[in-house]
Order: sequence, then C-alpha cells, then structure tokens
Amino acid sequence: MMQINVMKDYQDLSRKAADCVAQQIKRRANSVIGFATGGTPVGMYAELIRMHQQEGLDFQQVTSFNLDEYVGLSTDHPQSYYHFMWERLFSQINILPENIHVPPGIFDDAEAVCRQYEAQIEQAGGIDLQILGIGQNGHIGFNEPRDTFTVSTHITELAEKTRKANARFFSSEAEVPHRAITMGIGSIMKARSILLLASGRSKAEAVKQIFSGRVDPHIPASVLQLHPHVMLILDEEAASLI
Ligand code: GLP
Repeated sequence: MMQINVMKDYQDLSRKAADCVAQQIKRRANSVIGFATGGTPVGMYAELIRMHQQEGLDFQQVTSFNLDEYVGLSTDHPQSYYHFMWERLFSQINILPENIHVPPGIFDDAEAVCRQYEAQIEQAGGIDLQILGIGQNGHIGFNEPRDTFTVSTHITELAEKTRKANARFFSSEAEVPHRAITMGIGSIMKARSILLLASGRSKAEAVKQIFSGRVDPHIPASVLQLHPHVMLILDEEAASLI
C-alpha cells in the first residue's frame, strides 16, 4: 500500500518525516534504519537532532545503513556521503559508531565490499525503515535508469543528469565522481517499510512516474509500486503533477 502525505512546505515535510523515524525508534529501540543523503533529508536530520537534544530521542541501540557513496571519495572528503552523514546527523546524536554503516568509496575488491555490505544488512536482521530521496530522473539510491534493475549492492556509472544535479555540492561539475557504490533495488525493496521524501517542482515529474501503473527500470522509483508498505512525504510542489 502506498500512503501519500502532501505537506504545505519543506519544513512540514521534514517534521513529518522525522516523526515517522522517531515513531519507528520508539516502537523498537534497536531498529535498523536506512539513511539517505542529498539535500532533501537535511531538514529531517535537523529535526531528529532537535528531538534527540530536547526530547531525549534515543539512538543508542539503533543500527544504520546508508544507501550509497561516491566511488573514489575517502571518508574525510567533504563531499563524501560518509562525511555528510557525520556532519548532518551522526556527530550530534548518540548512535554508536560501530552501528553505523556507509558503503566505502575506496576499496580494492569491489565485489567483496558489495557482498560484505549485503551480508552486514542481513546480519543486522534487515532494514526496518528505509529513507529515500528521488532523483529528477527517478533514481533511488544511485540506481540509475537502465534496461534492467540490479538487485544487490553494486558499483554503478552515474547518469549525466545526476552528475549535473549533484554538481551544486562540488566546486565544479568535473569534480563530481563518475561512479558510485549503491544498494540495489532488491536491497531497498527488502526493507520492511519505506519512506520516500520529495520536495520542489524539479521532482514533480519523477514523483508522477511512481504512479504510472507500470514497473519500468528506466524509472527506478516505479518499482516502489510493488512494495507493501511505502509512505511518500511530499511538499505541494513535488505533488503538483499527481
Ligand atoms: C542523490 C542521492 C540520492 C538522492 C538524490 C536526490 O544523487 N544518491 O539518494 O535521493 O540524489 O538528491 P536531492 O535530495 O539532493 O535532490
């Protein structure tokens, strides 16, 4: 079932999303949460930090898995997703470092690190709640539009549109890595529940495609139509075409 919440603006969207995460953690203190990067969840992370500091929301038993990372960026690179997560969330809550998982951007054996990431998710008991953003081209994690879905964690070539969209975080487009390591469509679909956030007019077309009634690997987010428990939290602009 797909539940849709249209919020009046980004702040409301962020609050609603943080509430969903908080509810999950209150229901089960040792929840496994899948976190996402990008601009969209930043407000939700700020709200989670506030809930931790002011309301005692407790992350001590939480385990986290991030969706993806740029290949070639080290953990201390300012644009790495590892660095982003520490800045925006992990350093300001009481999650234990040993319970945090972000796919590595630097490695020798790609196949081994991808296999290991899947095994770690499995050992943790699977993901209870997966947070997702959405690319303008309908990508989730870094699962780009392709002729087929890739099931498990893998290395992928970034679409030009994605590199352009993400160039705003780098000093130039040339600096945006060409490859990423990402959970696969199967890794995402195995999560027990999914929360997809989208904000702004630039996401409206991609959001509309989620409801196409067809599952199409050229619009990766369309696969969410097959998931039994998805919640979309949108602002009015992102929801404007549905
Ligand atoms: C990035 C991330 C995705 C994210 C998407 C949207 O490339 N890999 O996980 O959902 O693009 O990003 P933003 O929220 O900044 O629009």
